[in-house]
Amino acid sequence: MQNNTDSSRPLIAVKSDFDRFVEWQQAFKERDIDIVDWRQRHQHLERLRYALVWQPEAGALADMPALEVIFSIGAGVDHLKGENIVPEGVPVVRMVQDSLTAGMVEYVVFQVLGFHRNMHRYIHDQRAKRWSPIPYPMPAERTVGILGLGVLGSAAAKALKQFGFHLAGWSRSPKSVPGVKSFHGDAQLPDFLAATNYLVCLLPNTPQTEGLINRDTLSALPSGAFIINAGRGSAVVDDDLIAAIRSGHIAGAALDVVNDEPLDDKSEYWEMENVIITPHIASMTHPSDSADHVAQNIRRHLDGLSLTHLADLDRGY
Ligand code: NAP
Ligand code: GLV
Repeated sequence: MQNNTDSSRPLIAVKSDFDRFVEWQQAFKERDIDIVDWRQRHQHLERLRYALVWQPEAGALADMPALEVIFSIGAGVDHLKGENIVPEGVPVVRMVQDSLTAGMVEYVVFQVLGFHRNMHRYIHDQRAKRWSPIPYPMPAERTVGILGLGVLGSAAAKALKQFGFHLAGWSRSPKSVPGVKSFHGDAQLPDFLAATNYLVCLLPNTPQTEGLINRDTLSALPSGAFIINAGRGSAVVDDDLIAAIRSGHIAGAALDVVNDEPLDDKSEYWEMENVIITPHIASMTHPSDSADHVAQNIRRHLDGLSLTHLADLDRGY
């Protein structure tokens, strides 16, 4: 699978998810960058200044003496947390690309509209041959609250706005997104939750976001609220969410991410009628266009310019 590399061109080692090495190879070839399959990186260590990775093994990046920039295949960088993963002082660039954002917007809009129009109930009605219309509210009578008003959260808010929902977002720092009521910090979380009918979580996995969707925050939502989690599973305390759904306080949940992936076959979520499970596919990194983001940053690095979309590993995102 290894290509012959030209020593005048940048070289990047790629540890791809979903076995997409060949796609990355083609995409980088079109951008005059040579690539090395992760498993063959040892043959090129002196020339490898760049690595594009998903879940690298502990110690692997540290064993690359020429490494200058690490690119995360995902928008999230929690797969790079932990002992001896990212060598001291090597910057990490996270994935920010239109196709990744568009995929998340599609997922969030799909799930919000699905719950709003009761598709989770009609699917079961169809199986039972039951013709049972359910009145639905107007979007202007409902608020979508987005936890995490970053690249993905802001784009999802913008897309949902056109349906007429009220939009609110919660982040660490104050935001100004047109048409979106901004809340920030722990002190403003209760007010944000009190008005949210569809709670969309697009938070990164950090110590501060872990377990944020728990008994207390779920009870702060209006009765009949829905949960859509496409950020990270660590945000949810599963027992609390399951209890809130069983009690009827939470009317349904769409979970693309869970605490332990893949979801255990003993998880109660599988059996719950108003829970939709998807296997961490809300959005994906597409090599054909995401190579742009990496290639542009490599050019910037070679030209001595600052890198874009640097992650702050101390902050966790
Ligand atoms: P981003 O631009 O960095 O946005 C993260 C947002 O979360 C920011 O608004 C940030 O607030 C907020 N935040 C972080 N910690 C917080 C805290 N303790 N309290 C309140 N707000 C907090 O990231 P993104 O590109 O939108 O991606 C978000 C996450 O989506 C990723 O980290 C990843 O976990 C997940 N993701 C999932 C999939 C999937 O397929 N399921 C695909 C891609 C990404 P500030 O702006 O104030 O810093
Ligand atoms: C996927 O989960 C990502 O972080 O891009």
